[in-house]
Amino acid sequence: MAALIGVLPGDGIGTEVIAEALKVLDAVATIGGHRFETRHGLIGGAAMDAAGSSFPPATRDLALGADAVLLGAVGGPKWTNPEAPDRPEKGLLELRAAMGVYANVRPVVTHPALYDASPLRPERLRGVDILVVRELTGGIYFGEKRRTADGASDLCSYSRAEITRLLRMAGTLARGRRRKVASIDKVNVLETSRLWRAIAIELFAREFADVALEHVLVDAAAMHLLSRPADFDVIVTENMFGDILTDEASMLVGSMGMLPSASLNDRGRGLYEPIHGSAPDIAGQGIANPCGTILSVAMMLRHSLGLPREAAAIEAAVAAVIESGLRTRDIAAPGTRAVSTTAMGDAIVTHLRAAA
Ligand code: IPM
Ligand code: MG
Repeated sequence: MAALIGVLPGDGIGTEVIAEALKVLDAVATIGGHRFETRHGLIGGAAMDAAGSSFPPATRDLALGADAVLLGAVGGPKWTNPEAPDRPEKGLLELRAAMGVYANVRPVVTHPALYDASPLRPERLRGVDILVVRELTGGIYFGEKRRTADGASDLCSYSRAEITRLLRMAGTLARGRRRKVASIDKVNVLETSRLWRAIAIELFAREFADVALEHVLVDAAAMHLLSRPADFDVIVTENMFGDILTDEASMLVGSMGMLPSASLNDRGRGLYEPIHGSAPDIAGQGIANPCGTILSVAMMLRHSLGLPREAAAIEAAVAAVIESGLRTRDIAAPGTRAVSTTAMGDAIVTHLRAAA
């Protein structure tokens, strides 16, 4: 197949992990005889420096014209002034909104070879396979913001349509899994949660009678993710709860660096990015973990490019390399040797070729 892929490395370790992801994509193309045309664009701090905006018009055109977009990370010490009119994170939020990718899908799957990297006991980690479906283009992230000398407010608002389409995506994804959905809210305090829960009850009764729906308060969910993570199948939640809970959930796997994500709309053109940030503390050292980004390439092949076999091959190669004991610093046991970002990427490509 032939496809146009927009590549937005962004800032910090974003450029380093994207380089490895592109090597893997190249290998997939060679092995399967596919043609992936990659076109690079600017986003975040790099875009502010080079084009005067965190989300320049050229990047918007690239993202909207591509079959899929692969993104590294944005942000860094150079652009941290929270009072500045433009910030790297603003560019990312604008990209998500422009693409209309309302559902951010973040798989959290533990790997026995990585149990040591998690602060939790191995018996808690066994069999953890969670799919978090996070609302991505609404809620408090996008509500009206106000600031006076003496106060500030961020509006959290959701429409019935925004909630319904996300819950429907979660229900549909649950059908390909264990048919359990945990809807996370704060119904005892928030009006948006009361609407959310009412819609969930009604929608699942009407359209997903074959899927078990439970409701969990967000504070309890934060606890249950540690006490009974293996019980969860699909978790569906609003934007900020999902942001917080997925950072927490990444520690089940062992590191933020391992987690990929797909941001989807109903048109199949997704945005793919690791869940981690630009990690300024380790940027430029060549020690970042590229697995989250490489696994995001797998999600891109599956969800936007119709290549599920190639996606599974990448996932198997990452698993094989982890099983072989290769570790970047974030997942290496204290005192053991860690490999570089490029060594990790090379090893995954080698496994991919060997298995083809
Ligand atoms: C994420 C990140 C972003 C978010 C930031 C960089 C704006 O934390 O993708 O989880 O909050 O969505
Ligand atoms: Mg986050």
